Amino acid sequence: MSEPVTIAFAKHGAAPSGVLLVLTDETLTFGREAQKLLKPVLARLSRAIEADRFKGKLGGALDLVAPEGLGVTRLVVLGVGKAAELKPSDFLRLGGIAAGKLPAGTPAAVLVADLPGAKVAAEAAAEIALGARLRSYSFDRYKTRKKEGDTDPVALTLTLAVADEPAAKRAWAERAPVGEGVLLARDLVNEPSNVLDPPEFARRAEALTAVGVDVEVLDDAALSRIGMRALLGVAQGSIKESRVVVMRWNGGKPGDAPVAFIGKGVTFDSGGISIKPAAGMEDMKGDMGGAACVTGLMHALAARKAKVNAVGLIGIVENMPDGAAQRPGDIVTSLSGQTIEIINTDAEGRLVLADVLWYAKDRFKPKFMVDLATLTGAIIVALGTEYAGLFSNDDTLSTQLSAAGQATGEKVWRMPLGAEYDKLIDSKFADMKNTGGRNGGSITAAQFLQRYVDKTPWAHLDIAGTAMASPASDINKSWGAGWGVRLLDQLVRDNYEK
Ligand code: BES
Ligand code: MN
Ligand code: ZN
Repeated sequence: MSEPVTIAFAKHGAAPSGVLLVLTDETLTFGREAQKLLKPVLARLSRAIEADRFKGKLGGALDLVAPEGLGVTRLVVLGVGKAAELKPSDFLRLGGIAAGKLPAGTPAAVLVADLPGAKVAAEAAAEIALGARLRSYSFDRYKTRKKEGDTDPVALTLTLAVADEPAAKRAWAERAPVGEGVLLARDLVNEPSNVLDPPEFARRAEALTAVGVDVEVLDDAALSRIGMRALLGVAQGSIKESRVVVMRWNGGKPGDAPVAFIGKGVTFDSGGISIKPAAGMEDMKGDMGGAACVTGLMHALAARKAKVNAVGLIGIVENMPDGAAQRPGDIVTSLSGQTIEIINTDAEGRLVLADVLWYAKDRFKPKFMVDLATLTGAIIVALGTEYAGLFSNDDTLSTQLSAAGQATGEKVWRMPLGAEYDKLIDSKFADMKNTGGRNGGSITAAQFLQRYVDKTPWAHLDIAGTAMASPASDINKSWGAGWGVRLLDQLVRDNYEK
């Protein structure tokens, strides 16, 4: 599959064609609608269940090719586990699993959203649709040759058969924009750095005007006029210009303070003069995962017309070694006036964020700021690829983010901040230095950022382990995860609309 599936809805009862997908639980019974359809094959199905030792567990599936009497090319029975215990994130996974069961070349599939003893609500159907959409994404725009045996990609329509078609369509109209936001973020992360340089990233962000986002692009001249010298210092060795993009969506009450999202957008992080080792350096094209998430999120909020005032700011630079590059030992004056001694030019993300956080706080006086950054390798050592690191000066915001993480499956784990860590980033020559040594590397990075948020409620998400190169899941097979779009959309939905 190379194009995301097209989602459609139909009322229960229509004759299915193509691939038919039905749900069952651990009792191995079917909902009434599924039962009606399956009548001609029930006997065969129970033999197949037996022969395959299929238990109906969530994630399990049973496949029958060309079952006689059904008029479909294939019947897929998907297990859901315990039907009564299904959470939205389970339906999302289920949608991903369903899409994964559709063989290449399938033009049409019907999933009967029906469970034994439980109704599949419109929201749950929309969650299934979202999971299928996310799973079917692949980034193959630079593949010009097909592998042997590859079929031509075909457009696939997945129809969900539901009890209440208009309600399901309404629920999908709310979810589809979030899916588009995730896919936009994945595209940005997957793009190579020679294509997605800072000016090109800014142009892609500008395209959000189509969904009603107000987009303002600050170029090199504007940034030096403003005084973002910490950010510009990072870009000094690159032939690429830098950009800060301000995206505004005003769907809330006029005059209401906005919520603010800030993203690290290093389109390539070579390390600069403190150059990285060659092995794996290609992954640093994804060092803009934070900015990608903020862009995808702003798309989602605007496209679903969220009742919130939100502002997204992304700092986009390239970090390269060069005769003009910043050196270890250099001292820069940030927008805040605080001075920073550069110890390691590879600790560049915090320098970018320092200026953008300060700017966001000063200009927008937001209710809160959440920043996302592929900031430290140390967070991968600490948490692996399952949880993002959460650092916050505000317990309420922190609790809301943890809850949104549980709800969406984009999980965050709170890490400590504390004045005790401050001495690790004290500098002999300036107000602070940009690294705090090996120990607690993610914490000292967060402690550094905290110096640029003042009293604003703030949370920092270190997404180095989750934004890219994380293991494939039921809803993502691509290198770039688009991580955080669903998390932050949920945060807004649950706490900041109206
Ligand atoms: N972009 C990297 C962090 C990173 C590492 C992201 C691996 C994704 C995967 C960041 O700019 C960086 O280089 N951090 C340094 C900080 C150190 C020099 C204090 C690191 O983690 O080694
Ligand atoms: Mn770096
Ligand atoms: Zn970096």
